[in-house]
Amino acid sequence: MATSAAGPVLIVGSGLIGRSWAMLFASGGFRVKLFDIEQQQITNALENIRKDMKLLEQSSSLKGSLSAEQQLFLITGCSNIQEAVEGAIHIQECVPEDLELKKKVFAQLDGIIGDDVVLSSSTSCLLPSQLFAGLVHVKQCIVAHPVNPPYYVPLVELVPHPETAPATVDRTHALMQKIGQSPVRVLREVDGFVLNRLQYAVISEAWRLVQEGIVSPSDLDLVVSHGLGLRYAFIGPLETMHLNAEGMLSYCDRYGESMKHVLKTFGPIPEFSGATVCESPR
Ligand code: NAI
Repeated sequence: MATSAAGPVLIVGSGLIGRSWAMLFASGGFRVKLFDIEQQQITNALENIRKDMKLLEQSSSLKGSLSAEQQLFLITGCSNIQEAVEGAIHIQECVPEDLELKKKVFAQLDGIIGDDVVLSSSTSCLLPSQLFAGLVHVKQCIVAHPVNPPYYVPLVELVPHPETAPATVDRTHALMQKIGQSPVRVLREVDGFVLNRLQYAVISEAWRLVQEGIVSPSDLDLVVSHGLGLRYAFIGPLETMHLNAEGMLSYCDRYGESMKHVLKTFGPIPEFSGATVCESPR
């Protein structure tokens, strides 16, 4: 079974996110090599993954069509980076969110990879132009930002460097779909990518509403968990607009002015400090 498996995929950094990626790629039938500078991290990751997969299997929540044992067989630890990159079709970097560290890791990988592997970063907020500047293999570089916990939240934001080849984006998109994730193409890099920009817009207004004494923290959370969030778990804001009237044009016609009226009352960016910090939602 293992000889016919696709891959291998190399995970660089065996912490929280690296482990999740390893499980996802194995669930899609890919061989996975787990690399880390700390040997103990690899050992811990392999133990953790075994435990998690067994529990998931017991509760019928294991992803993919292979058994836990079959998936575990696909994942191996590797402490030599030169050996680790050999034959890899995709490298997913998962080292801590530190620009200098990530640049060092990418420079090292750039020197030892071939021309046909995708070099992908899990970064939450560093821009591709910062991460991949000057790399020989920049055309093969992309950000594939997962959402924690990636095993349960399928979204992956794909963010190219200006010099990333379109084929790299297409290939990564197809790979993410193959392992059951939901990739989206961010067409141009922007701070916060898409998910965090939306999230920060919501957090910002939530903060102001609590700070201004308009709603309590727990009621604010209810508005989302028992209201807006239920809607958005099924359809996005743009589809909601379309369905809330006779199409988008009709929605903008009907509600455009009142939306602008409300939006003009939004306050400045909160400081995220002071008394509001101490208000507990529970
Ligand atoms: P973590 O701290 O759990 O794991 C990082 C791993 O990288 C550790 O095992 C560490 O030993 C290893 N490492 C450090 N330097 C290394 C090197 N030079 N070569 C190889 N391995 C090295 O970090 P976590 O949470 O897994 O985050 C990894 C990346 O994923 C970060 O960029 C983070 O922003 C991103 N991310 C994190 C999310 C989260 O909620 N934790 C969500 C989405 C993305």
